[in-house]
Amino acid sequence: MVNDNHHVIAVADPAELAKMAAERLIARISANAGRAAICLTGGSSPKQLYQLLATDAYRSKIPWEHVHWFIGDDRFVAANDPLNNMGMARRLFLDRCAPADTIHPIPTDAANPEDAARRYESELKSYYGANRLNPVRALFDVVLMGVGPDGHIASLFPNFPAIEETERWVVGVPQAAVAPFVPRVSLTLPCLSLAHEMIFLCAGAEKKAILERVFSGEDLPAARAFASAGETIWMLDRAAVPPNVRSTATDRHPG
Ligand code: 6PG
Repeated sequence: MVNDNHHVIAVADPAELAKMAAERLIARISANAGRAAICLTGGSSPKQLYQLLATDAYRSKIPWEHVHWFIGDDRFVAANDPLNNMGMARRLFLDRCAPADTIHPIPTDAANPEDAARRYESELKSYYGANRLNPVRALFDVVLMGVGPDGHIASLFPNFPAIEETERWVVGVPQAAVAPFVPRVSLTLPCLSLAHEMIFLCAGAEKKAILERVFSGEDLPAARAFASAGETIWMLDRAAVPPNVRSTATDRHPG
């Protein structure tokens, strides 16, 4: 549940949000002397951040050969479909900046979402170098997250079996609870949680109602997600800050 280990950082607007997220991402990448693994998110919230990473000022600060890019969930559509999450990240920055072998999309050309989930799980296991998640060894340096209107994260929807998964790293989700209503493939909570830092990106007044529910302690997927190996940061723009979160500027706890 959202608790005192979660920081809330409120900034003025989506442009500031993108800047702050980019800076944290770069700090985490720099802190890792070896290869860094970043788990991206889909949806619209990260788009400005992705665009920013491709600009000269930020692009030059990232040691691209040493960073591997994964995605927390994808829509089971062709890689070049506008709905494809990794496709969006590729168009906005990865294809221009990252070597091809550092980009790890969910294989949506698989026979079905389950098959894609199994293949992606194998890829994650081989990257991690183990078949079991070790609570003291993070899989990801940073996991980015968005929050859906029903409190879902990745494609883990409230009251769906996937949110309770404890063994699998990746699952097929045959039906989505919110638009777009296409099958999904999603990393599970234990897998997403094994991170040095989890950053939630939420901008706009339309996020206020769901954030109020998340911070009031409701048992929603977004309230269950946290970085078990580090810090969890909620980055909100001013318009998204709900009344039960006392924060207008920097680094406050929910309360
Ligand atoms: C997806 C997502 C999903 C998203 C949230 C927030 O594939 O749709 O990964 O979990 O992050 O629904 O979406 P927005 O950023 O568009 O509000």
